[in-house]
Amino acid sequence: MDKTVNHSLSVCISKFTVIIVLFSFSFSQARAQEILRWEPVAPGIWKAEAGTPERYNLLTASGAKPVIKALEKMGSAPFPLDPALITAGIFDGQVYLKFPLVRGERIFGFGLNFKTIYQRGKILTLHVDHYGGTDNGRTHAPVPFYVSDRGYGVFINSARYIRVWAGTSVNRDRQEPSAVRDRNTDKRWTSAPYSDAVDILVPAAGCEIYIFAGPSALDAIRRFNLFCGGGPLPPRWGLGFTQRVPTLYTSQQVIREAEEFDAHNFPLDFIGLEPGWQSRAYPCTFEWDKTRYPDPEGFVRTMLEKGIRLNLWTNPYVSPESPVYEKILPYTGSHNVWGGIVPDFSIKEAQEIFTGQLKKSQVSIGISGYKIDEVDGYDRWLWPDVAIFPSGNSAEQMRQTYGLLLQRITSEMFREANRRTWGLTRASNGGGVSFPYVIYNDYYSHEDFITALINSGFCGVLWTPEVRSSKTAEEWIRRFQTVCFSPMAMINAWASGTKPWSFPEVEDDVRYYAYLRMQLIPYFYTEFAKYHYDGTPPFRSMVLEEGFNPVETEEIKNANLEDNPYLEALRGEIKDQYMAGEYLLVAPLFAGQTSRKVILPKGNWYDFYTGEYAGNGEIITVTPGLNRIPVFVKDGGIIPMMPPYSKAPAAGKKYDLEIRHYGTKEGHYLLYDDDGETFDYEKGIFSWREIRVEPGKNGRMTGSISKAEKWKPDNIGNVTFRFMSLNQQKK
Ligand code: GAL
Repeated sequence: MDKTVNHSLSVCISKFTVIIVLFSFSFSQARAQEILRWEPVAPGIWKAEAGTPERYNLLTASGAKPVIKALEKMGSAPFPLDPALITAGIFDGQVYLKFPLVRGERIFGFGLNFKTIYQRGKILTLHVDHYGGTDNGRTHAPVPFYVSDRGYGVFINSARYIRVWAGTSVNRDRQEPSAVRDRNTDKRWTSAPYSDAVDILVPAAGCEIYIFAGPSALDAIRRFNLFCGGGPLPPRWGLGFTQRVPTLYTSQQVIREAEEFDAHNFPLDFIGLEPGWQSRAYPCTFEWDKTRYPDPEGFVRTMLEKGIRLNLWTNPYVSPESPVYEKILPYTGSHNVWGGIVPDFSIKEAQEIFTGQLKKSQVSIGISGYKIDEVDGYDRWLWPDVAIFPSGNSAEQMRQTYGLLLQRITSEMFREANRRTWGLTRASNGGGVSFPYVIYNDYYSHEDFITALINSGFCGVLWTPEVRSSKTAEEWIRRFQTVCFSPMAMINAWASGTKPWSFPEVEDDVRYYAYLRMQLIPYFYTEFAKYHYDGTPPFRSMVLEEGFNPVETEEIKNANLEDNPYLEALRGEIKDQYMAGEYLLVAPLFAGQTSRKVILPKGNWYDFYTGEYAGNGEIITVTPGLNRIPVFVKDGGIIPMMPPYSKAPAAGKKYDLEIRHYGTKEGHYLLYDDDGETFDYEKGIFSWREIRVEPGKNGRMTGSISKAEKWKPDNIGNVTFRFMSLNQQKK
């Protein structure tokens, strides 16, 4: 053979070999997803990496730091899933993940959904956006975390638009083959045969995956929350009542508003100023408007002297007329929003220029917090996905983390000043658990607001079902009642100009609930402390409550769930009643309803207002009248309440306690106390006071509360015990 022929033959063979190798490589990759290698990172928490994870992700954007001590207290737990059934592969430059599901398993979470609790069967694209009326993944906090009633949680740490098939796909090679039915003749035919997997697509070269052990679903949530820093501890005043005034109010009108609250005998802890406090808005200057607020310092001082704090609305888009425009310009993205430049808040310089202005003009004169608006969507209002940011983070990553970044840098300003803040945000995401911000939006379905409140507890965020306006007095009081059992008791009158007394027919009832909220501050404050120290969400779904979630029986599986709400509840889809703290079960009514069903978990439950026995593991029907929102207390429940003050007690101010006990069981409660305003609790300056209710020598229930430890905060004055169910005990 001559040399040239030989050469071309070998070229041909080697080309052929390359083709074969490439072909078999892609073929085997397409078939064999890899099993992930799990590495423990904290007790009951494991991490794995698929592909090459990106450096910028939800945890780096939020700066979340695990609370290792609290996690250690929870103890270790076995890996909650069969690791062989969790697979990952990189195809098409993206991460393909698969997690197992078993029959009857329910999953919850995937962020702040408004219509559904039960997420199995959903197809979602987790994308920060203003909620648009459908649970499709586009929402204010599309947290890529889900939790299973089999007692584990899964978190995907990626700031990408993650796609999820939550138990909808049927894998050809799955162990339990689908029943194949004939649609022509078999009534049981379904277009969606049983699926045993959660499939997740992360459009990135890699990502981190975390698994959280139980044993219960609530434990998995607690581990997730603690891993992300634990919940925020609000200032005590943050749990008081707040009113947001019309957008163009002047300082004089705001002062008058506070006086009117006094005149009408309504509590008020902080007022929110809407866009008109700024000289220009949409885009913003971050400067006081000189006509409406000629003397900001004097105005803030006057309000603080009245015991009223101020919260300021802003969006982050910088007007050419802002004093920081020129300085921040080099650190902004390629596209504008409402004619304003868009700071790249993942860059230190942008953070410093922005917070420098806020500190100088507002925080230093005593402003106590912000409402961070417009960091969620809609697409047509924000930058497009082709925008370029100077940090090199993609427009998509910026969209997924913008709310996180703003919460982080603004809360940092208050920490530096050793003052706690309590604000509002319209976007958050995984990792944002510890930020002192409550999510709100422009959507206004009362029912869906309650579903969102329930879902917030699955994904480490807080939500307020804010009250704005109402068509009727009935709607007004119904909305008002629920906002008093939420993380922020607020009327947002920016457009409506409503006041708590706007509907005179129900003014007394509104006042009653505003003051009840104030009385419940010691209880809610402690429940938030549990969120902070133990990771337990203060507002959460009934499915996380023991005794509510029995195993699905054959009867339930086969039942027509449509016409049996109790069976529906057992499947987890109960979205109109929830737990507020350890002991309270809240069952709101909506306009048009005069009665409703309430599902009481196993164990005795008592009426909050009267202490009367209400039921045990059953469905009851209540007909409460407009002046009551049904609230029930667990047997042995202890509810510490303070007098109906119009303001939350200031640091160091003593307050009396009425400690209520419900039911017949002995009661035990740890009451949290600190100065309520600073971060000194991080230095150990807090106390847990032990409350006990048990039979005394004479067999009668008696209550006791432990003394505060030496040198620890002691804000509690006189204590009285009230045994709410004592008379009913004889029955
Ligand atoms: C909206 C916000 C409202 C109000 C308004 C003021 O975006 O959701 O609560 O603040 O802006 O312009």
